[in-house]
Amino acid sequence: MRVFQSPHELKKELRGLHVSIGFVPTMGALHNGHISLIKKAKEENEIVVVSIFVNPTQFLKGEDLDKYPRKEQADKRICELAGVDYLFYPNAEDIYEKDEVKLCAPDVRGYILEGETRPGHFSGVLTVVMKLLNIVNPTNAYFGKKDAQQLMLISLMVKQMFMDVNIVPVETMRDNLGLALSSRNEYLNAEEKVEALKIPSALKKATSLVVSGVYETKTIIDEMKMILEPLDVSYIAIVSREFIPIATIQTGNSMILVEAVVGNTRLLDNIWL
Ligand code: PAF
Repeated sequence: MRVFQSPHELKKELRGLHVSIGFVPTMGALHNGHISLIKKAKEENEIVVVSIFVNPTQFLKGEDLDKYPRKEQADKRICELAGVDYLFYPNAEDIYEKDEVKLCAPDVRGYILEGETRPGHFSGVLTVVMKLLNIVNPTNAYFGKKDAQQLMLISLMVKQMFMDVNIVPVETMRDNLGLALSSRNEYLNAEEKVEALKIPSALKKATSLVVSGVYETKTIIDEMKMILEPLDVSYIAIVSREFIPIATIQTGNSMILVEAVVGNTRLLDNIWL
């Protein structure tokens, strides 16, 4: 595995290869969820590039930028073992200048749900993903379905900016109790981990309601609220794949999304129906 810090050097190297490139952008603290993205990228491309960059512009003031887990050595080892060909490991100064061109998240879908609780977050995500895609110029780029709104907005950006990359959604990985894997799970203490399981339980209940023929989204949300008690729930939303709120489940075009704060940790999860 070769490690690059300089965007220009990596870009030059990759441009000379003329092979299909699978790209997995990450913020590090790699877990099995990331490994499943890397595995899929390896299956579908000749080479795999992973980036590790804790992107400052997607953190709001007062959020966890400083305490976000950084595990350089362990992450490098994981990438090596997973068969990554190129690791991009830039510093903030390699990616950002002082006076910057920025991308803005769309006015509506960038400012609902997670965009409402974290206004401006998605503008930072889109800006860095645009930069990373321009550096790597991948054939396919892999994103987890757990961050469904991020995935939808990146897909919109790629379509609306007429970019050439194919965005590949990858299933959410869960621990053996059902909690969706996230680097931020590290913040949870033992008691909070148990509390956090209410989130997958509520989604499981929603699935079983739909399977038993309950399609009215209000009924499903009310049932989920009871299971999530007493968590600090930021939202439970049932939307189409385009993120338009829906009154009844449309199988094959629905998503149920939950954001809840457990202790001080914001957790996201969802199911696609
Ligand atoms: O999902 C993440 O880890 C980040 O938001 C991403 C896509 C790497 C951009 O910083």
